Amino acid sequence: MTEDRSDDPSADDPHSALDARARQTDARRFSPSIARNRDAVRAVFLQHMLAEGTLLEIASGTGEHGAHIAPGLPGLDWWYSDIDADGRASQAAWASHLGPGAGLKGPLRIDVSAGSWGEADALAPFDAMFCANMLHIAPFAAAQGLMAGAGQRLRQGGRMMVYGPFARHGEMAPSNQRFSDDLKSRDPDWGVRDLDREIGPLARAAGLALVEVVEMPANNLSVIFERE
Ligand SMILES: C[S@@+](CC[C@H](N)C(=O)[O-])C[C@H]1O[C@@H](n2cnc3c(N)ncnc32)[C@H](O)[C@@H]1O
Repeated sequence: MTEDRSDDPSADDPHSALDARARQTDARRFSPSIARNRDAVRAVFLQHMLAEGTLLEIASGTGEHGAHIAPGLPGLDWWYSDIDADGRASQAAWASHLGPGAGLKGPLRIDVSAGSWGEADALAPFDAMFCANMLHIAPFAAAQGLMAGAGQRLRQGGRMMVYGPFARHGEMAPSNQRFSDDLKSRDPDWGVRDLDREIGPLARAAGLALVEVVEMPANNLSVIFERE
């Protein structure tokens, strides 16, 4: 398996990002790392998640995962959310660019580590949730909030897909270790999380069963949880 740390923002190619921005004039943002991983992420979503219903995405960032997945699933309402205003502006621009038929809703302002998820609480319970590349680039309270919040807001049998780099049983790929060390040097509360030792116990406490772990390119995982 490649040692390329393809989701490391420092590995992004600025030229492709600039090219993409040059082609459009609205607030949509483009992540080169998503350009590399979005097809693999969509394939896992289509195999293990739902085709219709109401989904809440946490930490939607640029909004590209929803923009890549939702338009192909006409029965799915995909709610964007983020704590960050610039991210929400990009998500709104993607929803506007693709039009109402794409099923992209929101964005909602959600701090996943807060007890209240604001407007999302009125929409719960959700049929599904999705969260990519947040657990390692946020304090551990965000992981705690994501798992506890999913337990409270997913309907029984509802699934959550979490994508990103993980350690397993205390070990991680060298590229993920370098990435984690770099993240911790930027913020000691960040860092690659251990699926078995850190996230698993949070999931069990929240009533979420781990039903699938899919190996992804560049030492990432897609992890599927189901509300018991
Ligand atoms: C590396 S970006 C990932 C964005 C996108 N999901 C992706 O895969 O490219 C991390 C995202 O987590 C969001 N985030 C960080 N802390 C958060 C929190 N407490 N609640 C909600 N979102 C948070 C950031 O605003 C940012 O959009």
